[in-house]
Amino acid sequence: MLKRKDLLSITELAPDEITTILDTAESLTQVMTRDIKKVPALRGKTVINLFVEPSTRTRTSFELAAKRLSADIVNITSSASSLAKGEGLLDMAKNLEAMRADLIVLRHPAAGAPHLLAKALRTGVINAGDGAHEHPTQALLDLFTIRERKKTLSGLRVLLVGDILHSRVARSDMHALRKMGAQVTLVGPATMIPRGIEPWGVQVEYDFDKALDRGEQKPDVIIMLRLQLERQEKAFIPSIREYSKLFGLTMARLRRAAPDVLVMHPGPMNRGIEISPDVADSLSSVILDQVTNGVAVRMALLYLLMGGKGNESSLSRRKDD
Ligand code: CP
Repeated sequence: MLKRKDLLSITELAPDEITTILDTAESLTQVMTRDIKKVPALRGKTVINLFVEPSTRTRTSFELAAKRLSADIVNITSSASSLAKGEGLLDMAKNLEAMRADLIVLRHPAAGAPHLLAKALRTGVINAGDGAHEHPTQALLDLFTIRERKKTLSGLRVLLVGDILHSRVARSDMHALRKMGAQVTLVGPATMIPRGIEPWGVQVEYDFDKALDRGEQKPDVIIMLRLQLERQEKAFIPSIREYSKLFGLTMARLRRAAPDVLVMHPGPMNRGIEISPDVADSLSSVILDQVTNGVAVRMALLYLLMGGKGNESSLSRRKDD
């Protein structure tokens, strides 16, 4: 079990907690290959998916994860809730707690919103993405996907490419990969790399081609990031066409990487901008594996945060055993 009620950021997790989450997710992948993809581990628990920003992957995978562990799950979107009538987030969350929710999964455009709830509530809170701050469950499923393919995380060379400044995924991935011993290089235009970031233990490269052509030092993993035009208050790049030419992952660039390089993207992808369609669909791409693994990793988190000690056998029992 994790000795915490919330998962708010990667920075708060110790490496051994990350390993526990990944190992638990690995043991849960076998549930997903059965005919009846359900175990009774969280029977009687209630999860609320509270999404104040759009989501396909994160919201759906939390819902599937809860259902596969036999928890009850309620989905709330801001437009269909009293947030649309002006109710404050904290008031609303207190009302959900009053209905005996065991865990709230929150996505919110404001950095720190999950921390606010976690501090005020006894109910557990998982950060499903807060503004440009963190997306810890994405980083955990990214680690899981890399470890599944490369069998290790320590010593791997990982490029994080694109709009680092606005990317909560980049922030969480960077911390998670560093904690697990990987070498991280941030690649992007200078306007999209936060200033003074080197003390965080990462390298910075402004030339994508140079980052790919490092002789024996070629990357093991390339994580492409979505160009987040909706988060940019001013023009950070001269044009999308130029950005794509300099920082897009094309087949020509992929050929310069090692043959066993993994190509990743958290989604949603801007095909033809940060990644070309043929690369996204190539044999090097593990983008849909990331999505598959997202369910197992979120099952592991729900179980480790709510499962309770002494309930381990429920993970291997079938729902109707
Ligand atoms: N990767 C990710 O967070 O995708 P969604 O926005 O669809 O949840």
